[in-house]
Amino acid sequence: MDFTGQHILSVNQFERDSLDYIFDIAAKMEPYAKRQKRTKVLDGAILGNLFFEPSTRTRVSFGCAFNLLGGSVRETTGMQTSALAKGESLYDTARVVSSYSDVIAMRHPDAGSVAEFAEGSRVPVINGGDGANEHPTQALLDLFTIQSELRAFDEKIDGMHIAMVGDLKNGRTVHSLSKLLALYKNVKLSLISPTELAMPDYVVDTLSNAGHEIIISDKMESNLGADIVYQTRIQEERFASQDEANKYRGQFRLNNEIYTKYCKSNTVIMHPLPRDSRSDANELDNDLNQNPNLAIFRQADNGVLIRMALFAMTLGVADKVDQYQCDVPWVTSK
Ligand code: CP
Repeated sequence: MDFTGQHILSVNQFERDSLDYIFDIAAKMEPYAKRQKRTKVLDGAILGNLFFEPSTRTRVSFGCAFNLLGGSVRETTGMQTSALAKGESLYDTARVVSSYSDVIAMRHPDAGSVAEFAEGSRVPVINGGDGANEHPTQALLDLFTIQSELRAFDEKIDGMHIAMVGDLKNGRTVHSLSKLLALYKNVKLSLISPTELAMPDYVVDTLSNAGHEIIISDKMESNLGADIVYQTRIQEERFASQDEANKYRGQFRLNNEIYTKYCKSNTVIMHPLPRDSRSDANELDNDLNQNPNLAIFRQADNGVLIRMALFAMTLGVADKVDQYQCDVPWVTSK
C-alpha cells in the first residue's frame, strides 16, 4: 500500500485494509510521541501549516507530529493575516506555498476548499477540516481511539453500538467518522440530535447501504446504552446567527448523573473537542473528568500518532523512521 505523494482530502479514499495499515504505522509512532525515542527521518523537510479557521488541536498536533519526525514547520493562521484577504486565489496560494514546503496541512471554512487548493499544489495536501464537509484526520484518530478503547474490553468495531449526539448536521467529524464506519460490519448507530440538526441524508444512506442498524432520535437518555457515546458541540460558527445557535445549545448534556443512570458501566465517552464548557452549553460536564471511560484526552493524544503516520506515509518514509533514530538527551515527563 503506497500513499507516497498522495493528497489526504477525504475519508472516501480509504478502504478497510488501508485503515489497518495506517493504524499499524500510527501505533509504531507512540514511543516517539512519548519522547522515549527521537527520529530525524524528516530532518530538512518543511510542513506548510495553513489554518484559515480557528483550531487548537489539529493545528498544533500537525506541527508537533512533523517536529517529532525531525521536520520544521512554517505556518499561517487566520484569513485576515494571509493574502487570501487581498483576493488571492487558493490556486495561486497553493502554487506558491507548495514551493516552500514538502507537504501542506490546511483548514478552511469552505466545503471543498482544500480539494481546490490541492489542485494548485505541487506537494501532498492534508485536509485539516473544510467547512462542514470533512475532517479526515479527525475521523482516523477517532476510529483509532475507538479500536484501542474497545480492545481494552475485548470488543471490536465490528458489532459495536455507537451513539452520536449533538449537532450532527454541521459537525464534520461525525460525517467523516460515519463514512469510515461504513467500512465495518454490523455497527449499530444511534444518531441523537435536534430534528433540525439531524445527520445529513447522504451520510445516513451510506450507513444504511453498509447494512448498519440506524436509530434516529431527538431523545438522548433512552439511547445512551452504547459501547461508545460520541458527544459533539453545537457548531455555532456554521449558523446564520448566534441567536439561531442558542436555540440548540445545552439541549443534550452528558454529566456524571446521566452517565451513571443511562450508560453501561464501561461506555466509552468521546468528543472531538473543543467541548463548549460555557454554562449555557456544557454538553460534556467536567464532573466526568475523573471517569476512567472518558477517552477525550487519549483521543486528542492519538491525533499526534495518526498525523505522524500520515506524514511518514505521504513522504515515503514510513519504513525508515527507526533507521533515523537518535537519543533523547532531556528529562522527559511523558
Ligand atoms: N478536533 C478539532 O478539530 O479541534 P480543533 O478545532 O481545536 O483543531
